[in-house]
Amino acid sequence: MDIFVDTADLDEIKEAESWGILNGVTTNPSLIKKAVDNAEGELSLEDHIIEILRTVDGPVSLEVTEIEHENMVNEAETLYDRFDDINGNVVIKIPVNTAMGKDEDNFEGVKAIKTLSESGIPVNCTLVMKPNQALMAAKAGAEYVSPFLGRIDDYIRDQMGLTRGDDYPKGTYYPSELTEMIRNFHMRRRISEQGPEQVVYKDKETMDLFAWGNDDGIVSGVDLVWSIKNILDNYSYKTEIIAASIRTARQVRQCAEIGAEIATIPFDVIEEMMVHYKTSEGMKAFDEDVIPEYKSLLK
Ligand code: G3P
Repeated sequence: MDIFVDTADLDEIKEAESWGILNGVTTNPSLIKKAVDNAEGELSLEDHIIEILRTVDGPVSLEVTEIEHENMVNEAETLYDRFDDINGNVVIKIPVNTAMGKDEDNFEGVKAIKTLSESGIPVNCTLVMKPNQALMAAKAGAEYVSPFLGRIDDYIRDQMGLTRGDDYPKGTYYPSELTEMIRNFHMRRRISEQGPEQVVYKDKETMDLFAWGNDDGIVSGVDLVWSIKNILDNYSYKTEIIAASIRTARQVRQCAEIGAEIATIPFDVIEEMMVHYKTSEGMKAFDEDVIPEYKSLLK
């Protein structure tokens, strides 16, 4: 699995690059804002982006800001023409659906993906929250689709009345297995108390129970990645998955088990992937046991 770092912070990108395991970078307007605030004007934004592109020999996603098809395509072409010559690694990030309200057009994103892909500009389709969105982005020619794991976990928790905050800070694991166990427990109890013939699809309480703790059948961010992987494999789409909005090293491991091609990971979570208590403990023991004769052989 390729590892991208999900940041626009140059120090983080350079450090991750020095580890020798970095394959790319993803940015978005929020990450650019954070990086520019932290850098306190050391470089112009243009030079900052150029430095990112030079640092990494792999895809670097830059996002558009417009929401209509033609405007997105214009911005994407401007970004691509301005920056791709630096290191040949610009990928344009297009939201799968730019509608922010009910009456807005839901297909501006895929239209832009289609136009850009046909003209040879690689697209990373972002803000993917459901498998059908990924399917349509793949059909439109997206090179990458980015399902947002952490935000789907947040959303499901919200629907269950468990809002993120002090109780569920950003890196909290979302235990979808537990949710399913609780749902199954209540379902079994309903069936045994009322008999299976009463627990039918028209029964509102049963339907509410089915909908509890999932988003139209998707039980977690990791489950979203699993579903998208199956769909893309079923039809041999070349589109690759970038698992995004990652909050924990456990999610990275689960995405690797599923076979997601790429995970874009915050810097601190990449560090978390490398740390284990028993590794440090083992290192201390080895270090204490080095005898001088052995050390002298190594000089
Ligand atoms: O790659 C998308 C990512 O930057 C969003 O992450 O944690 O804000 O949902 P998050």
